[in-house]
Amino acid sequence: MNQAANPSTETLDRSAARAPAARVATPSAREIDATLNARLRELKTAQLHESFDKQGSFLYLEDFLPRDYTERLIDAVHAVTPAVNRNYLPGHKQGGSVSRHAIDKLAPFIADLYRSEALIKWLETISGDKLQLSPADDPHAYALYFYTRPGDHIGWHYDTSYYEGRRYTMLLGVIDDSSCRLDYELHTHNPEVPDEPGSVQYPPGALVFFDGDKLRHRITPLKANEMRVSLTFEYVTNPNMRPWQRFISNMKDSIAYFGFGQVFRRKAGKNGSV
Ligand SMILES: [Fe+2]
Repeated sequence: MNQAANPSTETLDRSAARAPAARVATPSAREIDATLNARLRELKTAQLHESFDKQGSFLYLEDFLPRDYTERLIDAVHAVTPAVNRNYLPGHKQGGSVSRHAIDKLAPFIADLYRSEALIKWLETISGDKLQLSPADDPHAYALYFYTRPGDHIGWHYDTSYYEGRRYTMLLGVIDDSSCRLDYELHTHNPEVPDEPGSVQYPPGALVFFDGDKLRHRITPLKANEMRVSLTFEYVTNPNMRPWQRFISNMKDSIAYFGFGQVFRRKAGKNGSV
């Protein structure tokens, strides 16, 4: 089911085709925090927290990331394109993914952004939860999702937490030259509140943040001559995972996202058995 992407077919044309601009040096962790803090101070965080609660642990902000950082993410897409792993699960999912392990090697700015204390503190205020980084061997901790061929999509699902605590997903739009939509349903697990459908087409720099077990969602299929790339960050409230949950999670990641090599080779290597 997995097939390595042929980089030549993953051409990033139109808006993304220009060569990555020569940017000033990669910002340090301190600079990232300072930039994000300046941006986050402009937001009405208390109101956004209320809105997150009211929407059953879901928030959408069309204009979130500073433009310069969005440009850096677009550069990162170019850098990781040779590492795209494509998957096809009939009736559920078709598309490409780049795991945190490849991002660490090819686009470390994303890893630094993921670890930004300023960002995490703000997400904690929005969610009302104490958040932790996903464990080092979780390929979803930060990942890029590529929709580059007609029909690329993901069907209705939850971002189920296999951890002992909650799992939060943050999505950032990076490239969107497509008609794809993030369709979602709020309150599906809350019998006291009617289900509430919604749909956004989150553009570059937009943010989506939600509790993975609460938001039913999908990405509608890509049409011909379209493409989109989005970035996902995953934070957890308790990074422990029971062995059976770990097995299920690894199998899902291997088949549906990153390939067995990315998921299991890392773990075998870590244990010194390869
Ligand atoms: Fe999802």
